[in-house]
Amino acid sequence: MIETKIALKNAGKIAPDSLSEYESVGGLNAFRKALKMEPLDVLKSINESGLRGRGGAGFSAGLKGKFTDESMCRYCGQKYIICNADEGEPGTFKDRAIMENDPHLLIEGMLIAAWAIGATTGFIYIRGEYTDSIQKIQRALDNYYTEAWLGKTFDTDDEFKLDLEIRLGAGSYLCGEELTLIESLEGKRGYPRIKPPFPAQHGLWQKPTLVHNVETFAHMPFIIENGADMYRQYGTENSPGTKIFSISGDLNRPGNYETEMGVSLRELIEIAGGMKDDIPVKAILVGGAAGSFVSDEHLDISLCYDSMKKVGGVFGSGAIMVLNETRNLLDFMADIMEFFKHESCGKCIPCRVGTAQLALMAHEIKSLDKDAVYVRLQKMQSEAEYIAANSLCPLGASPIIPISSFNQHLKDKI
Ligand SMILES: Cc1cc2nc3c(=O)[nH]c(=O)nc-3n(C[C@H](O)[C@H](O)[C@H](O)COP(=O)(O)O)c2cc1C
Ligand code: SF4
Repeated sequence: MIETKIALKNAGKIAPDSLSEYESVGGLNAFRKALKMEPLDVLKSINESGLRGRGGAGFSAGLKGKFTDESMCRYCGQKYIICNADEGEPGTFKDRAIMENDPHLLIEGMLIAAWAIGATTGFIYIRGEYTDSIQKIQRALDNYYTEAWLGKTFDTDDEFKLDLEIRLGAGSYLCGEELTLIESLEGKRGYPRIKPPFPAQHGLWQKPTLVHNVETFAHMPFIIENGADMYRQYGTENSPGTKIFSISGDLNRPGNYETEMGVSLRELIEIAGGMKDDIPVKAILVGGAAGSFVSDEHLDISLCYDSMKKVGGVFGSGAIMVLNETRNLLDFMADIMEFFKHESCGKCIPCRVGTAQLALMAHEIKSLDKDAVYVRLQKMQSEAEYIAANSLCPLGASPIIPISSFNQHLKDKI
């Protein structure tokens, strides 16, 4: 399988700061078309395309749009749209590829989604370290305002208009979680809210809010312009379309590669230039720190939501970290546990104390003999299960994913 591009189709081909270059390659055709459609038909098209959110959970974008649309009539009050550009999952660096290469595409996707649900104000929440992305997105917003695509009332029955602005994240992993992000946008400390209610009902300032990842919005212009059937020609039945994989580790050409959903790990490694110095694969972490481990026995697994489930794993953000045979897996596991300890917000005790305990155990394990390591790994798994069952938010439920998949697939490779 070779690269197939939807979200990165213009990358490297147009100047990212030029709206006219974006229009010269068909930019804004989709939004023009959407404005002539009924908002409900736009939502229907997104639903029929089968697009699933690219932020990690893989929830249906069509359903999320429908819930936000239905939670309040479009003339009855304020609705918001938010782009999650926090990109905090370790090993994930795909959203910045869109923002730095084709920022107008992301904003066109937001215009389409805002029109569909009747949102009139929106925010792009970008991680503060992404200075290039911030600059490129700001330039694109300025272009859209100058050319009156933003801040202008369109000649539609309900006088639709959208205002968009950037807000910066301050480096908290948890603030990438949609409700915590909303708290942060409201100017509060980055503590999570209890779900439900979901943002579709009670989001920003308690108003209906549609939150999507950068890559999800970047697929919407293609779907509206070409139709759901065309989109479904790419990818698999339950995971249609393409995906940008951020692939890193012991490879010749680590980077971002966009392919159809369903590409195998083996094919992806080949696209990334193969293993560095031809040293064979030992382990692969799919989906970032909150993702799952597989081993060299799973190289033919197809990368999509369903097949990862079959091996007891998650697909997550699409980050792929490849480790060769020389790597110490226990060191790697300890780094992951340190990450969760550092990012726990401390609001609830099982996660605050538990993630610190897991990090301690992951370090201690490194000096034990093999049999003792197996016993300790099992102990870490039951601790992580307890934390997952008794924590307030999904961060507390995350360490169990790498630990259990490690125990399932990598115990013999230590
Ligand atoms: C701890 C944590 C961190 C997250 N970080 C991000 C992030 O950096 N970017 C992102 O798009 N989604 C992140 N998510 C997922 C969001 O909560 C949410 O599902 C996503 O923004 C929805 O967009 P989508 O429908 O396009 O997938 C995170 C979730 C959790 C639990
Ligand atoms: S589970 Fe962890 S990150 Fe989530 S609220 Fe509790 S302490 Fe904070």
